[in-house]
Amino acid sequence: MSVRQLFVTTALPYANGNFHIGHIMEYIQADIWVRAQRMQGHQVYFVGADDAHGAPIMIAAEKVGKTPQQFVADIAQGRQQYLDGFHVAFDNWHSTDGPENHALAKEIFLELQKEGLITTKTIEQFFDPEKSMFLPDRFIKGECPKCGSQDQYGDSCENCGAVYSPTELKNPRSTLSGATPVLKTSEHYFFKLSDPKCLAFLQTWTQDGKLQSEVANKVREWLTPDEEGKSGLGDWDISRDAPYFGIEIPNAPGKYFYVWLDAPIGYLASLKNYFDKGGPKARGDARSFEQYMNDEKVEQYHFIGKDITYFHTLFWPATLHFSHRKTPNNVFVHGFITVSGEKMSKSRGTGIDPLKFLSLGMNPEWMRYYIAAKLNAKVEDIDFNPEDFVARVNADLIGKFINIASRSAGFISKRFEGKMGHLSEEGAALVQHLQQSAGHIATSFEQREFGKVLRDIMLLADRVNEYVDAHKPWELAKHADQAAQLHQVCSACIESFRLLSLYLKPVLPALVREVEGFLQVAPMDFASAQTILGQGHEIGVYKHLMQRVDPLMMDKLFEAPEATSASVPAPAAPAHQGAGDPGGTAIEGVIGIEDFSKVDLRIALITHCESVPGSTKLLRLELDVGEEKTRQVFSGIAAHYKPEDLIGKLTVMVANLAPRKMKFGASEGMVLAASHGNEKEHPGVFVLSPWPGAQAGMRIR
Ligand code: 2FM
Ligand code: ZN
Repeated sequence: MSVRQLFVTTALPYANGNFHIGHIMEYIQADIWVRAQRMQGHQVYFVGADDAHGAPIMIAAEKVGKTPQQFVADIAQGRQQYLDGFHVAFDNWHSTDGPENHALAKEIFLELQKEGLITTKTIEQFFDPEKSMFLPDRFIKGECPKCGSQDQYGDSCENCGAVYSPTELKNPRSTLSGATPVLKTSEHYFFKLSDPKCLAFLQTWTQDGKLQSEVANKVREWLTPDEEGKSGLGDWDISRDAPYFGIEIPNAPGKYFYVWLDAPIGYLASLKNYFDKGGPKARGDARSFEQYMNDEKVEQYHFIGKDITYFHTLFWPATLHFSHRKTPNNVFVHGFITVSGEKMSKSRGTGIDPLKFLSLGMNPEWMRYYIAAKLNAKVEDIDFNPEDFVARVNADLIGKFINIASRSAGFISKRFEGKMGHLSEEGAALVQHLQQSAGHIATSFEQREFGKVLRDIMLLADRVNEYVDAHKPWELAKHADQAAQLHQVCSACIESFRLLSLYLKPVLPALVREVEGFLQVAPMDFASAQTILGQGHEIGVYKHLMQRVDPLMMDKLFEAPEATSASVPAPAAPAHQGAGDPGGTAIEGVIGIEDFSKVDLRIALITHCESVPGSTKLLRLELDVGEEKTRQVFSGIAAHYKPEDLIGKLTVMVANLAPRKMKFGASEGMVLAASHGNEKEHPGVFVLSPWPGAQAGMRIR
């Protein structure tokens, strides 16, 4: 089998908000596909980026008093925690405001212009008379001109998917001021998609069988001429007037590319950035970005949501083709994720906050498994149902899969020195049956039929569990004369468990890394399905690999933000607290676990401590919190502790408190201490110290 070269992207998220579960679902889908391809030996470059431009981001930045650049940089900062959290492993993450995208967008535009596909027209555009600015499409709402659905944005309809210009909306209004917009003229640049050569190209590109059938059908509707013979595809307005956060159009001062022109070019820009940083080189690929993109054998795939099909199946391939570039091999369109049947809002997402999911200590691989179980290659919406989530994860992952190892590994360790034994004929047949599934499982992954993959794997797990139940290793273990049989049965279980793990690896990468550690095997790929551990192979000691989902966690996940972690009502503050009460006045208000988890509490080793000349209150401490450098902290405890008594002790510090400039220097954190509610009458400050065993740098939670 020849090695394929795949360039894979997910849709670039607007840099004006955090990821919601819809983003995470798409990233998980693409990440699983990429991992499965790599396990087949294929070479994949998987990139993403922030979609930085456009009026909404400019307006949002202005609202919070930031430059758009600063605004998007701040959003970008927050991305990695989601990606790492859900084991989504992009090779590169970049921004459409990077220099590569500026250069590529201009280059592509000039090539389209050379092709005779760019024209200018003076258009009448909506202008907000109260705000005195041309209104971006997203800031005009009205009724869809195609399907009549209410409250649709000025550029496209979320209901029927139609793309139109805002002037086509019925009963328009400005969402910035509420005013009825007025029409004003301005010169705009257009991509002549109605040009016969464009139409001919798109007719072929979209109808040659590569697209999902629902997608191809939808696109056919868009391309079909109406009764008067006019193509459904009008010329595309690709410019916006200043003020605009975007890329300036060459030789057109004050005109910027509409965000949707440069956004998909951001796919190429992120890949170029990856090449220029030496990513592929470090992986043994010495080509330049240009050489890679000009390689006929490279396949290009974009994972996207159904709402942006129009841009990716019409505008984007045309942009690439007529600028003499390779067009995508396919665009993989998925539906939306609803939560308990409720539709997601594009800006707010759904009722599931991905970070909250993680911060509650829920296992990200539960989410990967559940989403994968629901996904197929169609453009269907999927529903996250909390009860179904608990049932499926617990029944499949724990009940069927993990249990195979937990019921057999201990015997191998304790009774057979960790060594695998010989397989019985029946055991060997079972293992062989599992091995024979490798091909069709790999194919289902390739076809993005993840639900089917998991159903098939669980059927295999059922077979293994039937074998376990038939042979009852726990019974065999009771009889010394049945040791050989016990060894055979447990060995077949572990061989089977390895194969099931291998098949689940694209979905559960972190768990399977642990399995590989426990089984003492090199990273597994699909080829290794045809091997076995074999007699005499030594495995490690089994440690429990995955917890069950506690349904109470789901309650927490869906609790309204202000009530999180308050499953026990907060005690009301007593009306009066005596001076003898060491707590003093009750602190008001209840915080959620998210608020608490924002405080980075660490164990700190006091490596040095001294009094501060000129201060009777302060001691200067140097604290080791497991970082390269120690931290300097000033603490008001001089009246209570001698410096030499503190040196070498462990304490607790707030490590992410903004540094505070003091007269004597910067204080880079805070040491925690207890004191009486009524300090005047009950002086005394008691620095906290952890129980033995804690080490400098450990997180407190
Ligand atoms: O719909 C969106 O969220 C867009 N930011 C997607 C852009 S995809 C690509 F074209 F960059
Ligand atoms: Zn519509």
